[in-house]
Amino acid sequence: MKQATVVVIGGLSGIGRAVAERAAAEGARVIAVGRRAAPPGWPAQIETATLDITDEAAVERFFSELGALDHLVVTSGPVIGSAKLAELDVNAAKEAFDVKVFGQLRAAKQAARYLARTGSITLTSGLLARKAVPGALVKATMNAAIEIMGKTLAKELAPLRVNVVSPGMVETGMWGEMSDEDRQALAAKAGSGLPVGRVGQPADLAQAYWLLMNNGFMTGAVVDVDGGGLL
Ligand SMILES: NC(=O)c1ccc[n+]([C@@H]2O[C@H](COP(=O)([O-])OP(=O)(O)OC[C@H]3O[C@@H](n4cnc5c(N)ncnc54)[C@H](OP(=O)(O)O)[C@@H]3O)[C@@H](O)[C@H]2O)c1
Repeated sequence: MKQATVVVIGGLSGIGRAVAERAAAEGARVIAVGRRAAPPGWPAQIETATLDITDEAAVERFFSELGALDHLVVTSGPVIGSAKLAELDVNAAKEAFDVKVFGQLRAAKQAARYLARTGSITLTSGLLARKAVPGALVKATMNAAIEIMGKTLAKELAPLRVNVVSPGMVETGMWGEMSDEDRQALAAKAGSGLPVGRVGQPADLAQAYWLLMNNGFMTGAVVDVDGGGLL
């Protein structure tokens, strides 16, 4: 990994940032990518780039300008609320799919030709892929699509390895804007219902992405990192 180039799309915040920091700490060259500029205090050893994953031409340009890489991690995802079928905004659902599902597909497609055959792609789904919760239809269907996408690509792109991490509740900006007090209350309430007694932190997830980048015998896997939330 000391000589590896790792691209993390979604790497400027939350889970992706923890993956970028973990890979950089292990000595990899890391490029963290998102739509916004890097936040203040960004670690100097992690390169950044601006990219909207819904723009196929921009994704193609990004990988052709970068050239060879070893590992692609995609954690970019939309902020999307809950809605039951009767209230579902189908256009908002399409926009969410364009980021989370087609965005990961675009990234995999455009990166594949530059990725080392010994390298990996790690995509991101979510616990709702396999847990039916009323009001979570859009998240459930996006996440389920990504899990079978990972398995299909693992066969299509072999020997390149393709895996998926499925996070449970992880304390990040994905929870939306709220006061520190409300955030702590939400974390405590959600955590108390889990076997491990707490919600996840981005660093808990980074360990799984790190494992999937490094374990040459893992492909087509969906790794649940959810504190037992699926049980
Ligand atoms: N946190 C949870 O509880 C949880 C649970 C289940 C699954 N997940 C999944 O885990 C992944 C990571 O989420 P997170 O919790 O780390 O949230 P986060 O901090 O909000 O990260 C999402 C990232 O996606 C990027 N992004 C959004 N739209 C983009 C676009 N069009 N192009 C490029 N980048 C884009 C955002 O950066 P910019 O705004 O700069 O573009 C942001 O850095 C997501 O796929 C999410 O669905 C999270």
